[in-house]
Amino acid sequence: MDNTASKPAERKSFASDNWSGVSPEIMTALQAVNSGHHPAYGENDPLLAQAESLFQKTFETACKVFFVYNGTGANVLSVSQLLKSWQAVVAPHSAHLNEDEGGAPEKFMGGKILTVDCPDGKLRKEQLIPFFNSIGFQHHVQPKLISISQATEMGTLYSPEEISELAQFAHANDMYLHVDGARIANAATALGCSFAEMITHTGVDVLSFGGTKNGLMFGEAVVFLKPELADGFKYNRKQGMQLASKQRFIIAQFITYLQNDLWRRNAENANAMAQLLSQKLQEIEGMRLSRPTEANGVFAIMPKDVISALQESYFFHVWNEANNEVRLMCSFDTTKEDVEGFAKEALRLMKKS
Ligand SMILES: Cc1ncc(COP(=O)(O)O)c(C=O)c1O
Repeated sequence: MDNTASKPAERKSFASDNWSGVSPEIMTALQAVNSGHHPAYGENDPLLAQAESLFQKTFETACKVFFVYNGTGANVLSVSQLLKSWQAVVAPHSAHLNEDEGGAPEKFMGGKILTVDCPDGKLRKEQLIPFFNSIGFQHHVQPKLISISQATEMGTLYSPEEISELAQFAHANDMYLHVDGARIANAATALGCSFAEMITHTGVDVLSFGGTKNGLMFGEAVVFLKPELADGFKYNRKQGMQLASKQRFIIAQFITYLQNDLWRRNAENANAMAQLLSQKLQEIEGMRLSRPTEANGVFAIMPKDVISALQESYFFHVWNEANNEVRLMCSFDTTKEDVEGFAKEALRLMKKS
């Protein structure tokens, strides 16, 4: 009997940056911690202590870090940690927290997400002001947390100054700022800044630090930049079913990821391939980019028949059916040949269309 799993498709997908595999360095790290026995749950685990000091060095502060299985878990636990059930998180309508977590935040925190329409995926402080009419009014939920994504779901970026402005605004209004950093490495690389410059020095309170979309097999980290906010979080994580017993397999990946700038090398490639793709698509007559390419996502508008024909060879998502907008994500392992192959096929189909 043939026990081999089916082979991956020959052509790379532009569907999402988690369709790619795992960085070879991460595979080596996983293999390295696979021998012998090791403390479970991270308890008294020297690897955990090593990872904690690496995160503290990276973020230039005595942050508290907790490893979890996935990005939804990191977001939901971050939010539930900071909110009582009668408080609310304010986020762009397009936030993963709101649109792609299957109601997990509402179920787990028992509270409400208040959404704001942000056409470019970015929340501005002026948009938060209307929610303050509810403060102190016992019939309304009380806004307590702002959540933004960096990079955003629309592929755009907040500058450190914009993050800082939101953090100052949150704190001035007795609120917290959470950042969904599923693609934070792409953002930091594109902006040419460090994680500390983007997160610690801007005043962010809690960060969902992603890795899966940039070469890890699985695992994300919740980073509390203000350690006092992490009080009781270990119980919250357990209740939230995100406490990994064989935690060393997550920790070892993050150590490798942060050491020697693997995060940067991977993100640099994904971002560069998105720039190349964006340039190639713009050269095709009749094809139009619908958003600026700021990190590793490219958004384009093309005829419907071209989309369906292209999807026969390459998998990618239609972002907006109404205007035939598609989203093309590049990964750490996307190559120049992958991009050129896609652009060539797009050109051939456009000429036929
Ligand atoms: C902006 C954003 N946040 C978080 C996530 C994490 O999701 P998951 O729970 O699939 O790891 C994703 C993945 O699509 C994402 O795009």
